[in-house]
Amino acid sequence: MSVKRTRLIALCSGLLAVAGAVAVMPSASAGTTLRAAAAEKGRYFGTAVATSRLSDSAYASIINREFSSLVAENDMKWDATEPQQGRFSFTNGDRLVSHAQANGMTVRGHALLWHAQQPSWAQGLSGSALRSAAINHVTQVAAHFRGKIHSWDVVNEAFADGGGGGRRDSNLQRTGNDWIEAAFRAARAADPGAKLCYNDYNTDGVNAKSTGIYTMVRDFKSRGVPIDCVGFQSHLGTGIASDYQRNLQRFADLGVDVQITELDVAQGSNQANIYATVTRACIAVSRCNGITVWGVRDSDSWRRDENPLLFDSNGNKKQAYTAVLNELNAGGPSSPPPSPSPSTSTSSNPQPGGGCTATVSLNSWTGGFVATVKVTAGSAPVNGWTVTVSLPSGSAVTSAWSATNTGTTGSVAFRNVSYNGGIAAAGSTEFGFQGTGNGPAATPVCQAG
Ligand code: XIL
Repeated sequence: MSVKRTRLIALCSGLLAVAGAVAVMPSASAGTTLRAAAAEKGRYFGTAVATSRLSDSAYASIINREFSSLVAENDMKWDATEPQQGRFSFTNGDRLVSHAQANGMTVRGHALLWHAQQPSWAQGLSGSALRSAAINHVTQVAAHFRGKIHSWDVVNEAFADGGGGGRRDSNLQRTGNDWIEAAFRAARAADPGAKLCYNDYNTDGVNAKSTGIYTMVRDFKSRGVPIDCVGFQSHLGTGIASDYQRNLQRFADLGVDVQITELDVAQGSNQANIYATVTRACIAVSRCNGITVWGVRDSDSWRRDENPLLFDSNGNKKQAYTAVLNELNAGGPSSPPPSPSPSTSTSSNPQPGGGCTATVSLNSWTGGFVATVKVTAGSAPVNGWTVTVSLPSGSAVTSAWSATNTGTTGSVAFRNVSYNGGIAAAGSTEFGFQGTGNGPAATPVCQAG
């Protein structure tokens, strides 16, 4: 081979290397934190928090930098919120909500009813005494946090492991098979603005347990039992089901949102890949609202021996962190269209370029409604927005969250609050309101600035 030819090949491969580097470089608008990157995809990225640890400044600074949603790891469970029957304790839960609000984060509520972490007084009850105590618990806790919770895990882990696809035996289950729907109805009445989720584990693919849940959700949707979302805990080992995404999608196709709610993955050669796979699946399913990891640093984890989180015990970003961030940034900013569902109607005012657009999704029942409005920036960032909604006559707004309204009837203007006025180009944010009468039928108008 001549010297000239060798040089040419060397030059060409050099160019290829440069081209390759350019192709994988993040675009100018790529998010540099999990919360920013997820927001560009219209998703939240959350973490479970031990409220008592918020005074650890290393812990708090990672949370405030990286996450846009918080869930209490333990502080909103039954034993924490109602330690004695009828005596409620919301100090830690309230602190978590304040921390979230002060930092522009939404809150997942976890969990209203569960067979585990029940106060001892509830463990000792059965039959109708337990049923009414449970429904009272749902009502009181959901009412206390009314308007502050993005999504509630109304019922946690009610299905059995193993091949049957049936319910888990528990004191709650023994009060009657309808305990789950009774809980959802009570939660809707107490906080009509929160999305109501069923949450479980070992549901990370199409299997007997996830199919049992799927069948329940389909039944709830067909009978009008108020359910809005399904949480997939995703406490994963060293592998992941090949149909993880397909499973999320089949639930979404029932007309519910899906959320990854307690993600952690055993450390191993595959950890970063598994995190990437879960992230990719959520981005690919338009009704996947967001991902929550179950803790911040490995040392904070309930599975700490398995080092399953995105930050090491010193708070350094792990490979898994980079894998998640890259997946969130892949393909540039986008905002998935909300998928229509049988009980949800949507309308929008598409407006390419600058400005903003708003999409309303309605959950209605006789005499009332809850509207969730997604505000999406055009190709330029938005700094402040107002969405104007026309209500039919006889309808009125009774409360709003993540926006303040001017007027309650007719043409009602919703202005951003302090933490959600800025939206990245093509990014989005959500607010909501509830009202009496019928929800808006006409197209909302979004005005930037
Ligand atoms: C775990 C917490 O992380 C621990 O601190 C606590 O001791 C037990 O509960 N599924 C759930 C979570 O829904 O509430 C559990 O959290 C983990 C499994």
